[in-house]
Amino acid sequence: MNAPLFPVMAPASPLAAPITGLMWVTLLLGLGVFLLVTVAIFYFVRRYRHRGAQGEPPQVFGNAPEELIWMGAATLVLILIFALSVRVAAQSSPPTDEETPEITVTARQWFWQASYPGGAVSANEIHIPAGRRILLALESGDVIHDFWAYRLGRKLDVIPGQHNRLWIQASAPGVYQGACAEYCGTQHAWMRFVVVAQTPAEYQDWLTRTARPAATPTTDALAGSRLYARLGCPVCHAIGASSAQKVGPDLTHFGSRQLIAGGVLSNTPEHLTRWLNDPDAVKPGTRMPNYPLTGQDIADLTRYLEGLQ
Ligand code: CUA
Repeated sequence: MNAPLFPVMAPASPLAAPITGLMWVTLLLGLGVFLLVTVAIFYFVRRYRHRGAQGEPPQVFGNAPEELIWMGAATLVLILIFALSVRVAAQSSPPTDEETPEITVTARQWFWQASYPGGAVSANEIHIPAGRRILLALESGDVIHDFWAYRLGRKLDVIPGQHNRLWIQASAPGVYQGACAEYCGTQHAWMRFVVVAQTPAEYQDWLTRTARPAATPTTDALAGSRLYARLGCPVCHAIGASSAQKVGPDLTHFGSRQLIAGGVLSNTPEHLTRWLNDPDAVKPGTRMPNYPLTGQDIADLTRYLEGLQ
């Protein structure tokens, strides 16, 4: 993933570009005012410094025209920023009222899950077709979160009981980072996700593949599959048809995902082993319980889960 150092300053979407533009305008305006004031302070300190004169210097009480000019200039700058902000808000946040959201994104402590037309579900990565606007329905399963794919659009709070809508768009295919932008508990910092923007054909292909039921465990994955059921994992994680929202991420096509545990680790058998061995050591405060598993148990589970392609 070749992410720019400051993603916020590298918009990859017509919805995010105006926001970055506004940031530059306010940054440069602020820098200009800062320099003006700093230079003036040094100038006046030097110009009117004490040079051995006796007694108080002549006192000046106000100067109406000058004060009006200064206040007027400051007001004009504020009006300019306000007008630009209103325009940027309209550009980055087109109306959503008449539209049906294409993808539902659900936030939970601490991961993201997305469900798509046709029944496909993914966690910690959101697939979209590149080149057009996608309307997201943002839902929360617990507390207030905030969805922010820095380079693809504005950010928006995800509030329990409220059906927020957000447009995102990727100009070109690629992998774009995102994160929760509202403090939501211990692991707020590890509530990351990626948006995978694909060509429309690749996206359709992905949707079809991901809507398929979970792979039948191969013979060497049977032990892991049985253990998964015996431990009660399905209480929190859905695998397959069950579209019901659960406390943990859906695992139907777990093996084909890039990230696990809300983006803490990339999805490799070694990382999954570390995670199952002691989730709390990897992600303190996680809702995932630490089961007393043997090395063999973990190997079985890892083989089963990574096989869910
Ligand atoms: Cu979810 Cu911060």
